[in-house]
Amino acid sequence: MDRLSDRIKRLGYSQTFVMSNKAREMRAQGIDVISLTLGEPDFDVPDNIKQAAHEAIDQNYSHYSPVTGFIELREAIVHKLKRDNGLTYQPNQICVSNGAKQAILNVLAALLNDGDEVILPAPFWVSYDEMVKMMGGTSVIINTSYTNDFKITAEQLQEAITPRTKAILYSSPCNPSGSYYTYDELKSLAAVIAKHPHVTVISDEIYEYINYETSTRSIAAFPEIYEQVAVINGMSKGFAMTGWRIGYSACPEWLAKACDKVQGQMTSGANTVAQRASITALQTDPSKYRFMIDEFKKRRDLFYELTKEIPGFKVLLPKAAFYLFPDVSFYIGKTLDGQKIENADDLSMFLLENAQVGSVGGVSFGNPECLRFSYAASEENLREAMKRIKDCLSRVEIA
Ligand SMILES: Cc1ncc(COP(=O)(O)O)c(C=O)c1O
Repeated sequence: MDRLSDRIKRLGYSQTFVMSNKAREMRAQGIDVISLTLGEPDFDVPDNIKQAAHEAIDQNYSHYSPVTGFIELREAIVHKLKRDNGLTYQPNQICVSNGAKQAILNVLAALLNDGDEVILPAPFWVSYDEMVKMMGGTSVIINTSYTNDFKITAEQLQEAITPRTKAILYSSPCNPSGSYYTYDELKSLAAVIAKHPHVTVISDEIYEYINYETSTRSIAAFPEIYEQVAVINGMSKGFAMTGWRIGYSACPEWLAKACDKVQGQMTSGANTVAQRASITALQTDPSKYRFMIDEFKKRRDLFYELTKEIPGFKVLLPKAAFYLFPDVSFYIGKTLDGQKIENADDLSMFLLENAQVGSVGGVSFGNPECLRFSYAASEENLREAMKRIKDCLSRVEIA
């Protein structure tokens, strides 16, 4: 359509939504599809958070809040960052947004001039590359693989930095791989970043609570680069509040002010009722919500064991988040029942059509050899999904 801007024409659709929509269409045609495409907790919002939202409505929190969020919420975020991450921030360094997604966009909008480079360690969350494009930047991808737990090294980072690098953007814990950087790994990355004061780290920590090992670390904890880091987090994953759309950034003051400016022109701020409820969520002892993580851990263990059994899949036990990201390179370049498989997206489509199981191919995550499955699904569906895939791949003619 000619009237569309070049900027919009450059943008792609999220492959996650493409696959989940396709699964939905098949279901509407009466096909029994198990969709393991979407990354959202399948729990209800905990009752005390819902109660706080009811109270906020009754107390008429129905007007605009300050652009960067209610001061009580920003104070609760400051408290959380201290309690859980050992980080010191002031409320004027916090910007509450419509989800972590907008928090990332604000920071990119604040930092990027046309043609500026943003380093994305692959695999990355599908939206990062598109957000960089939307803001006029260019992504510089650093590849990783199954063999190194999908993590970059300090040397790789050093090699990727140029005078045009404005930011490095990654999630730890990572969607899609479920890996996260350890203290020592972050320390060595921080040492590189400290040598390049023109680079900002955008550290997406949205999966912080969905973690089955020791607690994760934030790179902002290294004082030598504190001024270079924007921490991103939010309510979506740890509190099962995806639809409530509350996320935030914690930045140096100059960057927080710029996010305020962007957001003031874009959305005027986040939903007030959801903000009030988020205060309660953050002030509650995190152990109250632990039951969700315990449940995810059970499913992870089960799903990992089931996935290991699939012929041609190489899989690591993810340490966090709720995804499995098996390497399926065995199938790439082969034909399955006469259908050519060029990359993991082709395999994902093949499995949707022939095993009726929805996954997301790794191309838009920057890793075309892997498939992403979300195990935020019932145990019954996880068992059935892997049974179908195993049966399907054992039956097909591979050439
Ligand atoms: C790595 C990562 N960051 C950010 C988000 C978006 O979070 P929100 O729902 O708070 O916008 C997601 C959602 O899938 C994600 O996987």
